[in-house]
Amino acid sequence: MTWYKVLKEESLKEGDIFKATAGSKELIVMRAAGKLYATSNLCTHEQYDLAEGFIDDGNIVCPNHFAIFKPQDGSVVSNPEGSGPIGPLKSYHVKVENGDILVEVE
Ligand code: FES
Repeated sequence: MTWYKVLKEESLKEGDIFKATAGSKELIVMRAAGKLYATSNLCTHEQYDLAEGFIDDGNIVCPNHFAIFKPQDGSVVSNPEGSGPIGPLKSYHVKVENGDILVEVE
């Protein structure tokens, strides 16, 4: 596992979702309800890029069919409209060092 710098902490405001590359992985970093989180960036329904999504009530919303995921662990809060159950996002550890946000990936 390796920690990768992805962006300056001060540039991620409440409700922001930022698409980042850490090693060979694309992911999203977000600030939701005051805390920083990182998850995989592709919706597990139809692979929509969640960097285009938004934070609502502390959760990640996919704007394509409105699946909702928990940023804390990537779990599904609500399945897409008109769809059966979908799988969770992958979640990654996040830390802040010297004003930089770092994400740990394999
Ligand atoms: S692609 Fe995300 S809810 Fe359908």
